[in-house]
Amino acid sequence: MAAKKGSDNALDLLIDDHKNVRKLFKEYEKIHEKATAEDKQELAEQICNEFLMHADIEEQIFYPAVREAIKDEELIDEAEVEHQTARDLIGQIQAMTPDDALYDAKVRVLGEYVEHHVEEEETEMFPKAKKAKLDLDGLGQQMAQAKEAARTGFMAAKAKGKRAHRPARH
Ligand SMILES: [Fe+2]
Ligand SMILES: [Fe+2]
Repeated sequence: MAAKKGSDNALDLLIDDHKNVRKLFKEYEKIHEKATAEDKQELAEQICNEFLMHADIEEQIFYPAVREAIKDEELIDEAEVEHQTARDLIGQIQAMTPDDALYDAKVRVLGEYVEHHVEEEETEMFPKAKKAKLDLDGLGQQMAQAKEAARTGFMAAKAKGKRAHRPARH
């Protein structure tokens, strides 16, 4: 998560995330036949978490601003539905282990799905956002902060989850 030099631009930040997640999917493709179950699960978890953080930040900060500016409700609605479908698939992957017969297939389908989604963002949504009068630097700064906070919160939750077994809520 190296900080980008000299750019607070929202689109640069999101495209960077896209590159990163694409790279992780490629990495999974490369290692999945030979890697240990533990390594596969760790990489799959990383993919899922990166995507979840990215999707949350888009929905909280970027999409509402774009929705307001470009007056194309359908485009944003569709993107939100795609996030939701990806989250469903991620939930299935997180409930499985690499020993499950469909594990690799689910990760691959998630990869294809995410590829389709980010492609649409980059070729349809982002050009429209660029044309609209959006404060892309301001949005980029907000998103960078939200991402940092999400990452810190996530790491803390992960560390806690490993140690504490809380009784089930009722
Ligand atoms: Fe998205
Ligand atoms: Fe995105």
